[in-house]
Amino acid sequence: MKIAVFGLGYVGVVSAACLARDGHNVIGIDPNTVKVDFLRQAKSPIVEPGLEQLIGAAVAAGRFVASSDYAAAVAQSEILLVCVGTPGQANGSLDLTYVRRVVQQIGEQLATSDGYRVVVIRSTLLPGSMQSVVIPLLEEFSRGKAGRDFGVCINPEFLREGTAIYDYDHPPKTVIGASDERAAALVRGLYAALSAPLITTDLRTAEMVKYVDNSWHALKVAFANEVGRLSKAMGVDGRHVMRLFCTDTKLNVSSAYLRPGFAFGGSCLPKDVRALTYQGRLLDVDTPVLGSILASNQLHIAHALSMIHASGRRRIGLLGLSFKEGTDDLRESPIVTLAEQLIGKGYELLVYDQNVRLASLLGANREYILNHIPHIGRLMVDSAAELLEHAEVIVVASASAEFAELLRQLPPGKQLIDLVDVWRVAAPEAPPPEHYQGIAW
Ligand SMILES: NC(=O)c1ccc[n+]([C@@H]2O[C@H](COP(=O)([O-])OP(=O)(O)OC[C@H]3O[C@@H](n4cnc5c(N)ncnc54)[C@H](O)[C@@H]3O)[C@@H](O)[C@H]2O)c1
Repeated sequence: MKIAVFGLGYVGVVSAACLARDGHNVIGIDPNTVKVDFLRQAKSPIVEPGLEQLIGAAVAAGRFVASSDYAAAVAQSEILLVCVGTPGQANGSLDLTYVRRVVQQIGEQLATSDGYRVVVIRSTLLPGSMQSVVIPLLEEFSRGKAGRDFGVCINPEFLREGTAIYDYDHPPKTVIGASDERAAALVRGLYAALSAPLITTDLRTAEMVKYVDNSWHALKVAFANEVGRLSKAMGVDGRHVMRLFCTDTKLNVSSAYLRPGFAFGGSCLPKDVRALTYQGRLLDVDTPVLGSILASNQLHIAHALSMIHASGRRRIGLLGLSFKEGTDDLRESPIVTLAEQLIGKGYELLVYDQNVRLASLLGANREYILNHIPHIGRLMVDSAAELLEHAEVIVVASASAEFAELLRQLPPGKQLIDLVDVWRVAAPEAPPPEHYQGIAW
């Protein structure tokens, strides 16, 4: 393919060199004439293992030309890759000056070029930037329509400096957010030879995933370092602890617990996080990451409460009470906390949980309800039908198949607030009912 790469920094120059190596014809564009001169002499403008050899081979084969000629680059290319910088400003906000400028320059050239091209943003952009900045500027300056006259994609880059060529060839995944299928298909062609998963999605999801990835990586580093400091203060080797931790690929290093839903609870997680952070305080070890976990969890419960409040209705039905599906354990259930807050605010609440029906409860849980939460025990009903009859707002707090089935036939007019993505259990492909809201989707 004929490809133009705008911005010959770490991402742009590695992409350009690898694409040329793979047989594409690449024009690299940068306003920085020092970089352009370097590349014309087959020298790398950045330090990156193996890059100078790739550039040398690509320039010698005539498949990579560096230039500052935007008109020729757009006229001669089918795919226009934008790799300009998106630096952070002092307050953390993103500086889109370079993106605005290059998109305007590309738009001006699109206005005078015939044929269909795809503008692919590889720079990291916050969700919504494509819709609110990139597409409007391209449409304004090209006097065309995205999705009709040209395609627009965002294709975030996951390479790491120092291993950039290896990472380019072995990405963890390739994500293409596309304005339309024609554009997506053209960009997918660039990556056909890679063995990584190739995912096409909408523009905003592709923008967001890059930030979530990097935040997760940063969280992992900070978490491991806090574990190290805490371990050392307790006479344990944190390196050994984290090696052991990483051998668990079922619950620790896996997709377990990584789905937005309701707050955590139960008899272990809150208690153990509390004990560890308390021990840190005793030992004068600050652990802001671990220390913020319970506060974040509380905020999530408060968020559910504010959603119920925003419904403007007073008759609420809570489906599920135990801290997760498949158990009757009520200790430190965040749903019990939510129920108590609703009662405290005077809502007319009824609760149904197929695992926690008072009549059939024995032993510890019966004793727990009668002694610790009798105020909730009194609001429990024996059938979901009774609850649905009463409630104007139904809050689903357990992803059980029974609830999912029931809610498919929800009478019209009832509002549904889903804390657990109950639809995933029943019919992920079926449209949710009217007046449906997820807690975080
Ligand atoms: N560096 C990385 O490891 C890495 C990894 C993944 C994603 N990213 C993201 O990729 C983007 C680029 O990062 P980078 O580190 O390569 O940036 P960089 O600062 O190294 O390079 C950006 C280049 O864009 C050029 N440029 C500026 N305005 C231009 C214009 N109008 N036309 C053409 N070129 C122009 C600059 O002269 C510079 O050479 C950023 O959004 C960054 O967040 C970077």
